[in-house]
Amino acid sequence: MKVLILYESRFGNGKKLCEQLKELFISKGHDAETCSVLDTGPGKLPEADFYVFSAPTRMFMLAPAMKSFLKNFKPSKEGSKYALMTTYLNPQVKALANMEKLLKPKNMVKVTNGFTVKVLGTEGPMEDGYGQKLEEFADKIIEVL
Ligand SMILES: Cc1cc2nc3c(=O)[nH]c(=O)nc-3n(C[C@H](O)[C@H](O)[C@H](O)COP(=O)(O)O)c2cc1C
Repeated sequence: MKVLILYESRFGNGKKLCEQLKELFISKGHDAETCSVLDTGPGKLPEADFYVFSAPTRMFMLAPAMKSFLKNFKPSKEGSKYALMTTYLNPQVKALANMEKLLKPKNMVKVTNGFTVKVLGTEGPMEDGYGQKLEEFADKIIEVL
């Protein structure tokens, strides 16, 4: 099964999470690829069975490159499954709800309540213990692959 992990990350915290998530999928026998939304666009994406979208919370909402990417995004198959991730400073996390709203018209199926991790400053680092949480998140996704 192919998992495509699409992210926006200015300071590299979200990118690090996505790369670690990719390695978790690969270590459990799945195909996985990461791609920054700044390096791709509609029509340029490889086929996938499952999508993960990861973006930070900025200005109380979703970071802008992910917002415009999701508006134009089309999954390879009708009814494709997806999961969401965000990094944040303030626990009033809006990015997940914003991403879900943008994906609603695409007839996709959300899996898990999403992965969130707090950064200790604007540029990071991430709070301790995120690695264990990330493994649990990967396992929940693997259950439905
Ligand atoms: C311009 C700007 C606005 C931000 N606004 C928020 C915010 O409203 N709420 C929040 O929790 N974090 C906010 N942050 C912190 C980001 O969530 C943090 O930089 C990001 O999670 C780090 O992830 P990255 O390394 O993948 O870019 C903001 C950061 C920047 C640069």
